Amino acid sequence: MTSPAADLVIVANRLPVDRVTLPDGGQGWRRSPGGLVTALEPVMRSNDGAWIGWTGQADDDPGAFVDDGLSLVPVPLSGGEIEEFYEGFSNATLWPLYHDVVAKPEFHREWWEAYVRVNQRFAERAAEVAARDATVWVHDYQLQLVPQLLRELRPDLRIGFFLHIPFPPTELFGQMPWRRELLEGLLGADVVGFQLTGAAGNFVRLVRQRVGHKTHRDLVYMPDGRTVQAMAFPISIDTAAFEELARSDSVTERAAAIRTALGNPERILLGIDRLDYTKGINPRLRAWSELVAEGHFSVRDSVFVQVATPSRERVQQYRVLRDDIDRLVGRINGDLGRLGSPAIAYMHSSFPRHEMAALYRAADVMVVTPFRDGMNLVAKEYVACRYDNDGALVLSEFAGAANELRQAWLVNPWDINGMKEALVEATRAEPKELTRRMKAMRKTVSENDVAAWANRFLAELESARPAHNKKLRPVR
Ligand code: G6P
Repeated sequence: MTSPAADLVIVANRLPVDRVTLPDGGQGWRRSPGGLVTALEPVMRSNDGAWIGWTGQADDDPGAFVDDGLSLVPVPLSGGEIEEFYEGFSNATLWPLYHDVVAKPEFHREWWEAYVRVNQRFAERAAEVAARDATVWVHDYQLQLVPQLLRELRPDLRIGFFLHIPFPPTELFGQMPWRRELLEGLLGADVVGFQLTGAAGNFVRLVRQRVGHKTHRDLVYMPDGRTVQAMAFPISIDTAAFEELARSDSVTERAAAIRTALGNPERILLGIDRLDYTKGINPRLRAWSELVAEGHFSVRDSVFVQVATPSRERVQQYRVLRDDIDRLVGRINGDLGRLGSPAIAYMHSSFPRHEMAALYRAADVMVVTPFRDGMNLVAKEYVACRYDNDGALVLSEFAGAANELRQAWLVNPWDINGMKEALVEATRAEPKELTRRMKAMRKTVSENDVAAWANRFLAELESARPAHNKKLRPVR
């Protein structure tokens, strides 16, 4: 099948669809629930957009296809490349390095070679698919070499890059054996976007130190005369859609059913995370268990619901974490639970948005305590669902979201006593106090939704290369 000539090309490690088996036994695609595709869909539709990514399965090469009006262009990965590029360099080297070395990054030359090879393949696909003078928007840490590789193939393109995860301080980035190559890869873009201004600052400083280019504030002056702009674009969610879902009768009924299933406790605390060692699940559950053991809460009237979504299960560190959490939950429930009243209701499974919204509606206190997190959309989703201006958010100061959600109970996940105090305060807060905080956070999240984020990025990208011929058609 021939590929489309697209004026807007999204390049991300994953396609925005998952393979599913249809009722008739045939194969089909289901749109993945992420906010990114929802935000980009209108702008892609009005600009002959295409999305380039991996299907999530080994050697899966169905060729370009259209799903519900979106042009999708799969990039195949072999089993070996999944091990070396995805599980290896992306998730056992870059992921821990960029998250403050919470786990030890592994550096292997073969993994790096696979990373280069796969990035080259993504760049080649983008070069084939993009129309003349098109805009290409590359996403996340798995594809940091794509901007430069693509620019070599197609100098006519306008190229943007957005990093969804943190960008580390110069001292930590310095450990990376291929630090210069990664920086040069990113410098192929016209705009390099980060979640926070601090991350953009780290990047510009590193470019000055390690590559030697001239910089001024958020600009890098390239030897070929181009300028590269490094800026913060804090990502968000489809706020209105979440609120609408939360207000629906079926979510309201499901939220009530969840409370009943839990024995109608007075208080429900909730954690929802990908099962990842950056998320700080362990200290959060320890803080909760100590509060129960010390008598601040009783399992008769309070419960902590922890949902851990399975993730990257073939990566060693994630296996170790799963065993750690299993053991911890088992011990806490063994020590503190009563018949029919566990201290922690733990689920290792992934839920659709509907169930997530019902959990957010059912929870009195949402507990989000990552050691380091680029943004954390769960915190924003909780806020979007609390249309009664109630509910408390306990949030790690090391989540990007803490920059915007200042009215949360901000905690340091390394400080168990501090977290215990915050949990007690948040749980016992007066309704007036909860309303004051939630109202302010809801304003922030409704004014800055994912569509505003996408439009701002694309507008910056357009003005970063004003001499460029082609303008994207705006959506609204
Ligand atoms: C983070 C990353 C994304 C990634 C997602 C799920 O949010 O920023 O790039 O897609 O985790 O991880 P996975 O490895 O399953 O794609």
